Amino acid sequence: MGPSLLRLWQYLLPLSCLFVSTRAQTGGVTGIATDLPKPWAYVGCFVDNAFGRVLSTEIDDASLTMEVCVADCAAQNFTIAGGEFGTQCFCGNELIEDATTAPNSDCNMACGGNATQACGAGNRLSVYSTSKTITILPVPVPQNSSISSWSYQGCLAEATNARVFPWEIDNTNNNSAPACLDQCAAFGYTAGGMEFGFQCFCGDVSDVTAAGVSLQPASDCNLPCSGDPIHLCGGGNRITYYVWTGPTHVWHTPEVTGQYEFFVPGVVVPLIATLGINNKVTFLEKSGTSEFANSTGAYELDLSLVSDFSATWRTMHVKSDVFCSGSVILPDIGARQLNVGGWSLDSTQGVRLYTPDGSPGVNGTNDWEENFEELHLQKQRWYPTAAVLPNGTVMVIGGETGSNGPPEPNVEILPTPAGGDTTIFLDWLNRTDPNNLYPFVFVLPSGHLFVVYYNEARIIDAGTFDTIQTMPNIPAAVNDFLGGRTYPMEGASVMFPLAAPYTDPVTVLVCGGSCPGAGIALDNCVTIQPEVENPTWALERMPSPRVMPNLVALPDGTVLILNGAVQGFAGFGLANDPNLGALLYDPSMPFNQRISILNSTIVARLYHSEAILLPDGRVLVSGSDPESGIQPEEFRIEVYIPPYLSQGLTQPSFTITNTDWAYNSQNTITVTLHQGTTSTMKVSLIGATSSTHGNAMGTRTLFPAFTCEGNTCTITAPPNSFVSPPGWHQLFILDGPTPSHSAWVRIGGDPAEIGNWPDFPDFTVPGV
Ligand SMILES: *[C@@H]1O[C@H](CO)[C@@H](O)[C@H](O)[C@H]1NC(C)=O
Ligand SMILES: *[C@@H]1O[C@H](CO)[C@@H](O)[C@H](O)[C@H]1NC(C)=O
Ligand SMILES: *[C@@H]1O[C@H](CO)[C@@H](O)[C@H](O)[C@H]1NC(C)=O
Ligand SMILES: *[C@@H]1O[C@H](CO)[C@@H](O)[C@H](O)[C@H]1NC(C)=O
Ligand SMILES: *[C@@H]1O[C@H](CO)[C@@H](O)[C@H](O)[C@H]1NC(C)=O
Ligand SMILES: *[C@@H]1O[C@H](CO)[C@@H](O)[C@H](O)[C@H]1NC(C)=O
Ligand SMILES: *[C@@H]1O[C@H](CO)[C@@H](O)[C@H](O)[C@H]1NC(C)=O
Ligand SMILES: *[C@@H]1O[C@H](CO)[C@@H](O)[C@H](O)[C@H]1NC(C)=O
Ligand SMILES: *[C@@H]1O[C@H](CO)[C@@H](O)[C@H](O)[C@H]1NC(C)=O
Repeated sequence: MGPSLLRLWQYLLPLSCLFVSTRAQTGGVTGIATDLPKPWAYVGCFVDNAFGRVLSTEIDDASLTMEVCVADCAAQNFTIAGGEFGTQCFCGNELIEDATTAPNSDCNMACGGNATQACGAGNRLSVYSTSKTITILPVPVPQNSSISSWSYQGCLAEATNARVFPWEIDNTNNNSAPACLDQCAAFGYTAGGMEFGFQCFCGDVSDVTAAGVSLQPASDCNLPCSGDPIHLCGGGNRITYYVWTGPTHVWHTPEVTGQYEFFVPGVVVPLIATLGINNKVTFLEKSGTSEFANSTGAYELDLSLVSDFSATWRTMHVKSDVFCSGSVILPDIGARQLNVGGWSLDSTQGVRLYTPDGSPGVNGTNDWEENFEELHLQKQRWYPTAAVLPNGTVMVIGGETGSNGPPEPNVEILPTPAGGDTTIFLDWLNRTDPNNLYPFVFVLPSGHLFVVYYNEARIIDAGTFDTIQTMPNIPAAVNDFLGGRTYPMEGASVMFPLAAPYTDPVTVLVCGGSCPGAGIALDNCVTIQPEVENPTWALERMPSPRVMPNLVALPDGTVLILNGAVQGFAGFGLANDPNLGALLYDPSMPFNQRISILNSTIVARLYHSEAILLPDGRVLVSGSDPESGIQPEEFRIEVYIPPYLSQGLTQPSFTITNTDWAYNSQNTITVTLHQGTTSTMKVSLIGATSSTHGNAMGTRTLFPAFTCEGNTCTITAPPNSFVSPPGWHQLFILDGPTPSHSAWVRIGGDPAEIGNWPDFPDFTVPGV
């Protein structure tokens, strides 16, 4: 069946309305219009409404004539025009609902605009057409075949004052069971149906149960589909209801879920959290713009002293406002934390550096260093991303010139190359502003870069930043293609672990996000393998919607999904409905069976919430700076104890001497296992990250090759800077499921000698 131009809302007119006209006169009016454009001609008088409207597009006109009706229908490219009850004009391309003919004498009501011409009568249509033969379609029935794995259930009552199903798509003139249900299935929904002819709904059987609605007489569902008039698409407050019977997602509900624990009272509401190689966590906070005047903007948490509030926090200092900057850990020997951009004027060009020092229990003395006069970005950047390139320099990409200001759709390199403005314009960032902030950037094993921004992604050259390949657009919500994955429709992203021999194509995972308008959060994760031929996005449903998630790569290769809201956007006061549950995503499981439902917190973690991996395998959860007046400015810091640490198993340990690894080098550790043997042991390397706005800059997980003799194991470092860009990693061993504490190793040295940069009086350099 071709596309139909029927519109279904006209069906909703109560029939009683059709009989209130006082202008109508009946009796003996049989005049036929002849002044018609070729090849229009009178066909006959037809019964309307025996089952439903036989023509559905209605154009009423008090001074109707059949010349006018034909002209109106022809103008919309319809081939059939019908006049009814003197003043009603209907159009279509076929008669539906098993229309039958009536004696011509039945069509005897005068047209509103010509007293001697017949315009049908009550439930009688004077039908004109471009063709002498017209198609009459049967009374529509529920479609109960050729709809993949959907099974027709019956005619379901709509809920009162609400909707049974959470997702609605309006297929104005192309609704049908396959059109609706295939879309539901593509987004992982397992129940759905059509209502009012043109509405499509998606959800789950649990929605039907929750709404407490039941099946009604099949005859209640009596409206043809807007795009398929021989099949039924519900009725008024009635849903032609289907259930998916094919394979679908599996969400595991393990017995051991791990749990949240309160960790330490905070002193600020941080917006950037970073684990340093001193095994302390630095927090940066918006200072100038903070609502708490007592903040210096920078603090360091000694994880070993959390039981002593007075000793656990070290006050540090930034000179300008880091709201909202980006951070990354440099490959220099000091593992400096680089922070770039920020809020307003000079701060937006800020370049701040901190070399972690001290040790657990012992305060360091280093502080953040910055001096705008000596060193600043070429462009103003609020919400930029920073990433270490394979050659060891840092790419700073995107952002805006200030809060909701014009975009900076370009990339620059640090250390700043000589020669004036060396930034490179990126039209795709310009085009997608303001929905692309804090884009996700990954180095691919080919040496190219993969960038995810708004609802798009592409591979770009790591030297020229030219586009090499664009990906298909990222699917968003079942009813909205315009949803996005980066700030302000913020999702989060990590790469699947890269395992020796690093020949499998890499997979990039993006979870959550939101949609424009009402800010309905996305309830799915998508994955793509950018470097296979014809890459496509695969979609896996999450158990609940989530905007502003954090994705934390764990030492066993799984990914913890937590924080965020079920509705809204990233930004102050733009979401108040927290998603309190944590999920675990296991890339090693089969597609659509990777998500486990973990434990829940009692603390809302909305805008400016972060989650980072600690050296002992727990996850530190901080923040929420909603400024909403409804949810609190959240100082409390929690830890999530993943399932691998909640089974009462002793954590393995190891010793290491060489922590500065060349590519492909052999590096020895001595291990102590408590459960398994070295044959079941795993080794992982977790890239040092700095997390803000759900963007864990630097995140990367490697499973390097290793061999063991006795308890001495030799790990082969990753082969090159494409598989593993220069930088610091947390090295873990896993005894069965249980991770050790981490040791810091650097891989690939400091090829760009960034450790000698910058050469200015106000900066101390750690060396390469
Ligand atoms: C009214 O309709 C009749 C019958 O089709 C036609 O002969 C006549 O010309 C029409 N009158 C006007 C004013 O168009
Ligand atoms: C009708 O068809 C013509 C020619 O194909 C097209 O240009 C016009 O846009 C159509 N009109 C409508 C209302 O669809
Ligand atoms: C749909 O068709 C199947 C197979 O023909 C049949 O078993 C089932 O009863 C039908 N469902 C309904 C609700 O009519
Ligand atoms: C229905 O038509 C709309 C508007 O042309 C289009 O965007 C949508 O993709 C169509 N839906 C289906 C299921 O074909
Ligand atoms: C979930 O966490 C709570 C503490 O917040 C804990 O009491 C409970 O045992 C945990 N549930 C499971 C299944 O581990
Ligand atoms: C700042 O004030 C807030 C609110 O009184 C308090 O919770 C916090 O600990 C203080 N922070 C610092 C760094 O003193
Ligand atoms: C570290 O320095 C802070 C001041 O910034 C102080 O409050 C704290 O007690 C010191 N901690 C230790 C372990 O000395
Ligand atoms: C960037 O986008 C703006 C707004 O769409 C447009 O006016 C401008 O021409 C674009 N700039 C370039 C260099 O393409
Ligand atoms: C690293 O790559 C960037 C981007 O192409 C380039 O600007 C820079 O000069 C390179 N630096 C080194 C030290 O190779």
